[in-house]
Amino acid sequence: MTTDTTYLLENRNLEAGQRFAALSALFDPVSLRQFDACGIAEGWRCWEVGAGGSALVQAVADRVGSTGHVLATDIDASWTQPAARGNVEIRIHDVADDPPPATSFDLVHARLVLVHVARRELAFRNMASVLKPGGWLVVEDADPALQPLSCIDVHGPEQELANRVRAGFRTLLSGRGADLSFGRKLPRMFHEAGLEDVTAEAYFPIRHPQCVPLEIATVRMLRKDLEDRGIVTSDEVEKHLENVRGGRLDLSQPPMISVRGRKPR
Ligand SMILES: C[S@@+](CC[C@H](N)C(=O)[O-])C[C@H]1O[C@@H](n2cnc3c(N)ncnc32)[C@H](O)[C@@H]1O
Repeated sequence: MTTDTTYLLENRNLEAGQRFAALSALFDPVSLRQFDACGIAEGWRCWEVGAGGSALVQAVADRVGSTGHVLATDIDASWTQPAARGNVEIRIHDVADDPPPATSFDLVHARLVLVHVARRELAFRNMASVLKPGGWLVVEDADPALQPLSCIDVHGPEQELANRVRAGFRTLLSGRGADLSFGRKLPRMFHEAGLEDVTAEAYFPIRHPQCVPLEIATVRMLRKDLEDRGIVTSDEVEKHLENVRGGRLDLSQPPMISVRGRKPR
């Protein structure tokens, strides 16, 4: 029997754009804070891996200015295209299966990508291999096993249903080869790659307005799989979406672990 390790939340779905917008609103400030801590400046060359949407690519392009350059790659870059401009190149590229770009970078970043990639260690090595001396690698990934619940304060059937839907999502992710405890492994991977000045921290939204559109888009994207596998019924999905839209849930996301480290000079 073979395991399907293709990316679960395919970008060709209409809801992918809504997910990217919500992910940006939730996490771009966290990522930009990492880049600022690295000292991102005009003229830097950056590689945004598994870019997804366009907002973060645009923000990085603004920071590096016209003398800098941003390479944004993804296995499906349809939603990245609005970021196209003079100092941005958008390319279809698989971070594990394709050779890394034949150039070196001041900053390489991947957020919520490696957790989905079956050959994630190879992907990590590919990213680290193209750092300039003194260049920074920033990898941010969720660790759902640290905190798997959708609603951490369970006080009724609405929260129980929300947590069952989230558990089903995790089952689907695992079935595609995702490592649900990947985030915690990142600091060790940075050390083993010989990177210096390694710093790791976590951001854990417990109730954030953007968790609502993120949940709606994710559930709409996966409802067929969830129903076909008997994880939830169609009525339960409708009930859950009604609870989410009605603001009756404090929806959380798993901790996202952000790690940065730099190649020795
Ligand atoms: C959860 S989304 C995150 C998007 C964006 N980085 C963000 O944080 O908003 C994962 C992205 O990784 C891309 N992806 C998945 N597997 C990939 C691979 N092997 N190589 C490059 N990109 C990949 C997907 O197409 C998708 O755009």
